[in-house]
Amino acid sequence: ERYESMKKIILDCDPGMDDSMAIVMAVKSPEVDVKAITTVNGNYPVDITALNALKVLEMLGRTDIPVAKGMPEPMFREKPKDPFTHGKDGQAENFLPDPVTPLSEKHAIDMIIDVVKENPGEIYILSTGPMSNIAMAMKKAPEIKDEIGQIVLMGGALTVPGNCNACMEANISQDPEAADYLFRSGAPTTMIGLDVTLQTLLTYKETQQWRDLGTKAGKFLADMTDFYIKAYETTSPHLGGCGLHDPLAVGVAVDPTLVTTLDINMKVDVEGPTRGRTIGDETRLNDPAKTMKVAVGVDVPRFLNEFMTRISGLAAKAE
Ligand code: RIB
Ligand code: CA
Repeated sequence: ERYESMKKIILDCDPGMDDSMAIVMAVKSPEVDVKAITTVNGNYPVDITALNALKVLEMLGRTDIPVAKGMPEPMFREKPKDPFTHGKDGQAENFLPDPVTPLSEKHAIDMIIDVVKENPGEIYILSTGPMSNIAMAMKKAPEIKDEIGQIVLMGGALTVPGNCNACMEANISQDPEAADYLFRSGAPTTMIGLDVTLQTLLTYKETQQWRDLGTKAGKFLADMTDFYIKAYETTSPHLGGCGLHDPLAVGVAVDPTLVTTLDINMKVDVEGPTRGRTIGDETRLNDPAKTMKVAVGVDVPRFLNEFMTRISGLAAKAE
């Protein structure tokens, strides 16, 4: 059956605008079966990211997908302050209706452990926020390392500077220890960092296509992306658009051939001036087993086409 051949994923996220787009893309990708959405402190406190995930699922009519709330703070240290703004509600001030669907009674950490154990070897964990939930799940149940099919994460930067400071990307900055734990864990992991996500840019030209559809979902997506593009005009005017960070991670989970990768064992600096830097682990440089892949190239036209086809299809049909 087609259902059986679908990729089973857990989307661990912090919506957030591009996370909201990632939820839409994952739910609307016929190749993917979203088993659960787990949310984490990141762009916004975890209560808001959980609510925002539910709001998007209600808009899509997919309240059958459980949403579990997770870590309200990083694994060890205090929350960094003032992440990049995604508007008062974290969704470009669209203020979608308050959800009526309840959150799962499970904590995100247990949701991750249970779903992985129920589907050994099959689960793709798609991470588009700080890695606090995933690292905590691996700490609580270390055996899941060998039962996870693959982790695809949006975060980090290997060949380009960070977006928080010269070497630190936003998702890593919110919990460097969690990212380091995951990077050194040996779990099969693909890193989709700024190296590639700042190549996949969206501009007002694409968002106008959604707005022109005259649907609620079209407006939601267009407002959200325009808000994001405006923020980029201030922070990164040289780019001419906004980076499709989190949606690219979904794209790669669906079709790994969208990116070219480097096999490398990675770590995250957790001390000193380079805290938050994602870099090769010198202690495992000569280890023949490489457990991570870092995306260094991306087929931009193919991804943008996939993204626009999936998202525009939804925006056209929804009320
Ligand atoms: O650096 C990009 C990441 O941080 C994305 O996951 C986005 O949601 C953000 O705030
Ligand atoms: Ca995110």
